[in-house]
Amino acid sequence: MGTAEIIDGKAFAAGLRERIGAAVGGLKAKYGTVPGLAVVLVGEDPASQVYVRNKGKQTLESGMASFEHKLDASTSEETLLKLIADLNADPAVDGILVQLPLPDHIDSQKVLDAIDPEKDVDGFHVVNAGRLATGGDALVPCTPLGCLLLLRDRLGSLSGKHAVVVGRSNIVGKPMAALLLRESCTVTVTHSRTADLPGECRRADILVAAVGRPEMVKGDWIKPGATVIDVGINRVDAPEKGDGKTKLVGDVDFASASDVAGAITPVPGGVGPMTIACLLRNTVEAACRRRG
Ligand code: GUN
Repeated sequence: MGTAEIIDGKAFAAGLRERIGAAVGGLKAKYGTVPGLAVVLVGEDPASQVYVRNKGKQTLESGMASFEHKLDASTSEETLLKLIADLNADPAVDGILVQLPLPDHIDSQKVLDAIDPEKDVDGFHVVNAGRLATGGDALVPCTPLGCLLLLRDRLGSLSGKHAVVVGRSNIVGKPMAALLLRESCTVTVTHSRTADLPGECRRADILVAAVGRPEMVKGDWIKPGATVIDVGINRVDAPEKGDGKTKLVGDVDFASASDVAGAITPVPGGVGPMTIACLLRNTVEAACRRRG
C-alpha cells in the first residue's frame, strides 16, 4: 500500500526529546535548577488521564521537575483560579498546563487567560495567540508547532507553498494557519461550511487535516506529491481485529492517500508523539526566558 514516504514522527520526537534533555542539563549546570512543569487535571476523563500521565512521565525522563495537580470534577472555578494564581507565583514552576476539556461549569478561556503568559506552555492564552498572529515572540501551541517541525524537516523552506488547513479550532487550525503564514506560505483555512472542500484540498502542496472526522480526507482530494500532515486521532470499531475491538485512525484515509501524496504522517506514530515533545520544548523555552 502506498508510494508516499512515511514521516516518522515517533523517531523525530525521540530525537527532539534527546536535545531537550541536553538543554535541561545545560540549564542545571548554569543555574543550579531544572525547569518545572505543572499539569492540572480536573475530573476523571479517561483520555485526559492517559495524556496527563504521559506528560508527567516524559517531563521526568527529560530531567525536568513535574508537578501534578488532580482536582475533583466538582471543583469550583474559583478554586481552580486560586491554584493558577499560586502556580503563577511559584518560582519552581516555569510552565503551566491545564488539561482540556474542563467540566462544563468552568469557563475554560477565563482559566487559560489567568495563566501567566510567560508560563503558558500550551500557547492558549489570548496574549500568546495575539503575539503569534502579529509576529511577536509567542509560546506556540504544541500540536501545530510539532506539525511545523515535521514540515520543515521534510521540505526545508516552506516559502511560497500553498498550504490548506482543514479545521479552524483554537488549539490546532487557527494557530497552524498563523504559523504557516509566518513561514510565507499561501494559506487557505477550510471548515465545515467550506463550499468545495475536496477542490480546496486538491490545491494544497501542504495539507494539514485537523477536523476530528475519521478518514474524511480521501486520496482523490490530494494533489500528487503533496505533503500530508494528519492531526486526527479517532478511535473507531475494528471488527476485522475481532469482536468489540477498536483501532486509531486519522482524519485522512491513509490507504488511498498514501498512493497519491509525496509524504504523509501515519496515525499513530506521526503528529501524536510530537505534541508532548513540543510541550517539553516550550517548557525549556519558558525556563530560558525566565532565567535570561
Ligand atoms: N486537550 C486536547 N489537546 C490538548 C492540548 O494540546 N493541551 C491541553 N491543555 N489540553 C488538551
